[in-house]
Amino acid sequence: MKKILITGGAGFIGSHVVRHFVNKYPEYEIYNLDKLTYAGNLENLKDIENKSNYHFIKADIVDSDKMFEIFEKYCFDGVLHLAAESHVDRSILDPMAFIYTNVVGTVNLLNAARKIWEDDLEDKVFYHISTDEVYGSLGETGYFTEETPYRPNSPYSASKASSDHFVRAYYKTYNLPVKITNCSNNFGPYQFPEKLIPLIINNIKHNKPLPIYGKGLNIRDWLFVEDHVKAIDLVFHKGKRGETYNIGGSNEWTNIDLVRKICKIMDKKLNREEPAENLITFVKDRAGHDLRYAIDSSKIQNELGWKPEHSFEEALEKTIDWYLKSEEWLENVTSGNYQKYYELQYSKR
Ligand code: NAD
Ligand code: DAU
Repeated sequence: MKKILITGGAGFIGSHVVRHFVNKYPEYEIYNLDKLTYAGNLENLKDIENKSNYHFIKADIVDSDKMFEIFEKYCFDGVLHLAAESHVDRSILDPMAFIYTNVVGTVNLLNAARKIWEDDLEDKVFYHISTDEVYGSLGETGYFTEETPYRPNSPYSASKASSDHFVRAYYKTYNLPVKITNCSNNFGPYQFPEKLIPLIINNIKHNKPLPIYGKGLNIRDWLFVEDHVKAIDLVFHKGKRGETYNIGGSNEWTNIDLVRKICKIMDKKLNREEPAENLITFVKDRAGHDLRYAIDSSKIQNELGWKPEHSFEEALEKTIDWYLKSEEWLENVTSGNYQKYYELQYSKR
């Protein structure tokens, strides 16, 4: 039986990955290792927590001794590494946390895998889940390909770029069987409401201002999280060692158009008289704000046969419905420290 470690499995994308692997591969033992930061929430995995092939380990990937101890104890055959500090705005407030978790934490995992696998690398996989932000910003035209040079602009993307470089270096130097994917903006259930889509849904629900950075003309390529998870499954099982694959939704939106779309959908669902668009408030821009991300996914499409299956309209509506019905989840994650973060991030904008 294969033992698979998924780091960051209590976070947004990680919880979807854990659920997918636990349900689809009962022959695998799935170990979810997570520090449970503000973004990690075991409530995201309530429906699978009692499955016999699911196990949870609370640990910090920055703790190198602990990582060696855990890898030696469980002898994983594969690693899907998603644990990270993931929010650009927080990286502007506190870059060091990103360097520790995203860079040092990733190298700790690489070292632990290298130690337990030694020269027995057959059928082993160390898969690093990364972001398109490592490529920097596009102008009005063009796409990121796997050959686009790295030009990260935020402390978050610089830390992810650095971790990607270490992962690739361990392949070249030690022959560690690595794979990397760089994906565009995900959305869907369980996303922490610091990110644009759930923040806007939550603020509309509470009749709060909808903060749009700058003029709202920055462009992101949005992908439903379940489509990302299918790509992750394919790359984990069929991707080539040492290779990078870009993953994107071919679904570009300016922030302002996207927010207006959410407003319209929610006006209908909430049956309110006052249009939610009236809540839109333009605020001070994000420092170093990347203008546009857009992905050329032809490599993963041609080599592994992946393509997004969900239409954006349906997936967005499904996501809004999930947030509207998950009142308790939303209340829990937006109380306490979230209020302090919100105040710090938005009160002086
Ligand atoms: P998230 O912030 O929702 O979850 C991150 C998880 O990592 C949390 O459960 C947290 O508790 C855990 N974690 C953080 N620091 C840790 C540490 N030191 N030790 C152990 N666990 C720790 O993030 P997400 O949006 O689900 O992103 C997951 C991964 O995918 C990240 O690596 C991110 O860079 C990448 N990614 C995200 C997106 C996106 O749009 N969200 C797109 C492309 C790539
Ligand atoms: O591209 C992949 C990346 O997408 C991931 O690697 C990151 O982990 C993930 O957080 C996301 O980064 P972004 O910075 O693009 O996502 P965010 O949801 O924070 O912002 C999306 C856009 O919306 C961005 O242009 C900034 C803008 N924005 C965001 C917030 C939170 C606003 O205008 N107002 C806001 O309040």
